[in-house]
Amino acid sequence: MALREINKYPDKVLREKTEPVEEFDGELQKLIDDMIETMYAAPGVGLAANQVGVPKQVTVIDVGVGQEESSLIVLVNPEIVHCGGESSSEEGCLSIPEYTTMVKRAETVKVKCLDREGNSCEIQADGLLARAIQHEIDHLNGYLLIDRIGRIKKEFFRKRYAREHAASKK
Ligand code: NI
Repeated sequence: MALREINKYPDKVLREKTEPVEEFDGELQKLIDDMIETMYAAPGVGLAANQVGVPKQVTVIDVGVGQEESSLIVLVNPEIVHCGGESSSEEGCLSIPEYTTMVKRAETVKVKCLDREGNSCEIQADGLLARAIQHEIDHLNGYLLIDRIGRIKKEFFRKRYAREHAASKK
């Protein structure tokens, strides 16, 4: 296993549409293992393959990070087939360091996907897991959490980013 570099906003790879996985080969297993290690090292509760520069529909999630029991899940080619309710909560992203914002998402989701061996599975989730799944599937579709906030907040984010980026260049 190896740590991979996490691409940061505004890297273009974060905006590319990812491709479905067709081969469940050694290369995929290595990618998944590396993603898990990179997520835990960050640390974060989720990571999408395009965040480490691989435009494939793969994401790893563990909302139990920092707790005794691991609740690691690996989703390949995930698709949300049902959403219910609505909830707002604070969210961050490993690709947008030192930024958190309130994001409105569905309260519950049902997802169809494949596991790392290519077996089909279905996941029913609510709370933090439902939120993490929606965040990661957004990544796979080229969206970031700043696309899920209002226009004024997004403008505020852009200005803050420009200001901090300018400051770090001095
Ligand atoms: Ni993220």
